[in-house]
Amino acid sequence: MKMLITGGAGFIGSNFIVCMRKWHPDHTLVCLDKLTYAGNLATLKPVMDEPGFKFIKADIADREAVYGVFEAEKPDVVVNFAAESHVDRSIENPSVFLETNVMGTQALLDACRKYGIQRYHQVSTDEVYGDLPLDRPELFFTEQTPLHTSSPYSASKASADLLCNAYHRTYGLPITISRCSNNYGPYQFPEKLIPLMIANALADKPLPVYGEGLNVRDWLYVEDHCAAIDLILQQGKIGQVYNIGGHNEMKNIDIVKMILSILGKPESLITYVTDRKGHDMRYAIDPTLIHSELGWLPVTKFEDGIRTTVQWYLDNRPWWERIICGEYQADNERMFTN
Ligand code: NAD
Ligand code: DAU
Repeated sequence: MKMLITGGAGFIGSNFIVCMRKWHPDHTLVCLDKLTYAGNLATLKPVMDEPGFKFIKADIADREAVYGVFEAEKPDVVVNFAAESHVDRSIENPSVFLETNVMGTQALLDACRKYGIQRYHQVSTDEVYGDLPLDRPELFFTEQTPLHTSSPYSASKASADLLCNAYHRTYGLPITISRCSNNYGPYQFPEKLIPLMIANALADKPLPVYGEGLNVRDWLYVEDHCAAIDLILQQGKIGQVYNIGGHNEMKNIDIVKMILSILGKPESLITYVTDRKGHDMRYAIDPTLIHSELGWLPVTKFEDGIRTTVQWYLDNRPWWERIICGEYQADNERMFTN
């Protein structure tokens, strides 16, 4: 089995690659990644020289390059993690989100049609459903919840999902889609809430909490997300959307306080700043379908996962310090050339 994993030099894709090496050592893995600011070859160091792993630097929106990769590698399965993924950046500059998340997805889907594929899996997000009110705790996102996006990021991800469905219905392409809640764990880029707060707390810098910090996210340890995708690839129904989430809703401010407490840092570091434009209030996944159909359940409790994550950032300072000082992009160039 040869699997093409796009966006594998980012947070979730790299964790997925490491999991797949562990869970399916017989698979051949090809990672295609553009190495944008969010891609980091240092993250792939543990697998880079292993037989059965190959890295290709390419842009999913570059149709010629994508077709070249399909022609040369002939993948059986494609798992598309490649995306511009940060909501705040999408508010500043939406265009690149459309180029990568929409046009890039279309180029991959067209390549799958042209060269043939056993499965195309689209890694999507719960953000495509918009948000839920704080005062209706009985409401959850199901696979039937209408798409109702808020940010340019979520609009681009929803567009990609619609394209995947269209290619399934129109051309019979064997696709699956997963929509996961917020992930946390090792190798997350320090622009996202949890790693940013850990890095700032360790540097005794202010921790910027948007608005009043009352927004709720449904956190899932990254390996649990990877296990869910693996199951969908093995047993998921073609054409099906699967929501992934572990019923772990938390207010931002409570997460920030938890991180400070684990690190033994004072709450006086918390600084309330101007709210994100169009800020979604609450995300909450109903994972009944993936549980009842495929037997998936998360295994990592948040109290354990957050401690493991904080410890990982303490043990791997060079990884994120090279990002914060900007040196990692020169490292990428050097590693890629070698
Ligand atoms: P990330 O930003 O950490 O990594 C994205 C990766 O994609 C990087 O390696 C980057 O170099 C690569 N990339 C970007 N544009 C590319 C292009 N045009 N061609 C090839 N590669 C490109 O993102 P992440 O947090 O690992 O998210 C991965 C996927 O999971 C995304 O599709 C995201 O929408 C989805 N998702 C993320 C979360 C989360 O909490 N982080 C939750 C649900 C779904
Ligand atoms: O729900 C899945 C989504 O989760 C993924 O699709 C996205 O790719 C991923 O980035 C994430 O989106 P969020 O916007 O929820 O994640 P972020 O870490 O940016 O923010 C989490 C919450 O914390 C959100 O309510 C905004 C808030 N926040 C974030 C930052 C970076 C702050 O209060 N301060 C901050 O500095």
